[in-house]
Amino acid sequence: MLSKDRSLEDSGLRYLPNLNQEKKNTSPNQEIFPLTATVNQQDHLEVGGCDIEVLIEQFGSPLYVLDESTLRTACRAYKESFEKYYSGESLVIFASKAWSCTTICTIINSEGLGFDVVSGGELFTTLKAGVTPEKIYFHGNNKSVEELEYAVESGCKIIVDNWLELENLTKITQNSNNKPVEILLRLTPGIECHTHEYIQTGHIDSKFGFDPTQIEEVFKFVSQQKGLSCIGLHAHIGSQIFELQPHLDLPEVLAKWLLTAKEYGLPIKTINVGGGLGIRYIESDDPPSIEEWVRTVATSVETACKKHGLELPQLIAEPGRSLIGSACVTAYQVGGSKIVPGIRNYISVNGGMSDNPRPITYESLYSCVVANKMSEPCTEKITVAGKHCESGDVVIKDATLPKTEPNDILVVAATGAYNYSMASNYNRIGRPAAVLVNQGEANLFIERETYQNLLERDRIPERLVNSVN
Ligand code: LLP
Repeated sequence: MLSKDRSLEDSGLRYLPNLNQEKKNTSPNQEIFPLTATVNQQDHLEVGGCDIEVLIEQFGSPLYVLDESTLRTACRAYKESFEKYYSGESLVIFASKAWSCTTICTIINSEGLGFDVVSGGELFTTLKAGVTPEKIYFHGNNKSVEELEYAVESGCKIIVDNWLELENLTKITQNSNNKPVEILLRLTPGIECHTHEYIQTGHIDSKFGFDPTQIEEVFKFVSQQKGLSCIGLHAHIGSQIFELQPHLDLPEVLAKWLLTAKEYGLPIKTINVGGGLGIRYIESDDPPSIEEWVRTVATSVETACKKHGLELPQLIAEPGRSLIGSACVTAYQVGGSKIVPGIRNYISVNGGMSDNPRPITYESLYSCVVANKMSEPCTEKITVAGKHCESGDVVIKDATLPKTEPNDILVVAATGAYNYSMASNYNRIGRPAAVLVNQGEANLFIERETYQNLLERDRIPERLVNSVN
């Protein structure tokens, strides 16, 4: 989990000797590196059959390297597990906030998953990738009127979060002759979990969803709106969760709400249990596998429905991190170094908090390797610093690594979730390129931002231009 300290073994290096051994039968979310990671004859790290050093020669650095096979394996693990453990209908939707771009949407769409979007921009991206609107669910605690209109027009489903949204949607739909807009209601389940407080959402003191005390009022209001059809209930507990207990508890809470919803005649056929399954960033992390998570969720929904005499609803889960997190690595080049005698040795890389803001935001821990020195002994304890003007811009504190030199390639694992999507241009640094690797082929799917790109939206007011001597 997101603990502050980590031991030397946690550097991920202990993991490396395993890379070329036969893989254990684990789930992508339990592996630190992508499933295809291996060490080649040049002693270099390879992902998706591509040598990371060669990728950097071709595409530059920093570089996000996304392994298609790991991503597809995770999609299939979710789908197949639901088919195996849930007797009703199910749908897995990708929480696209983890990494929203057209290529990733295209791959995930081709695996038959749906999508969770949280903004007009994410909706636009998903639609541009050719996803059918029926499989898109629009979330967010402060959707603008324009976003709601866009969602209604596109035909996606809307997960309503609060009263203002309900009122705005009522206004948008009341004079329409179209069929009612399908909505789900997001409710705060009052379930605590152990994760960083910034990424907990299910506890009562949360900005998301209707408070449970308002449920009946909400159900009554919705049941009176001709333009709205409430087809489901939603709850999400939090993110990077390793415990299964909260997911065992949630269906019981949802089932009780389903019973109340029935009293108001709502045509509910779906429950959405959110996402939240964690991934392994460092070796001591021990998340349940995708299959274990799905089994827990599916069987507890079945148990709760049986107990309350409810028909099995369509069951939706919306994972983000556990679908894409372990599929990507970020490759940097090493620059300068600094020894603070008796205190710490630093090396700097050519990226940092602008391409991965998670360490500075959540004190998240990562594993790394030197991709061009894979079998060299790890004799050094080194802190990997980013290049931004901020002391807290540290990618990994006290990593165990071989001796490094400038231009060595440092690869950080498990950077697929919430890295590119939270990347910034801090210090006017362009966002890195991203390549998709698969069976030795590498395709650029996001271009590197250039200096020119950084200026594209700058405008100098005319009067200032004229005042320049
Ligand atoms: N559903 C809802 C309503 C959510 O809010 C989230 C994540 C998910 C699904 C997907 O959760 P996942 O399966 O990825 O855990 N930026 C933070 C994570 C924020 C999560 C926001 N909501 C991070 O970098 O750790």
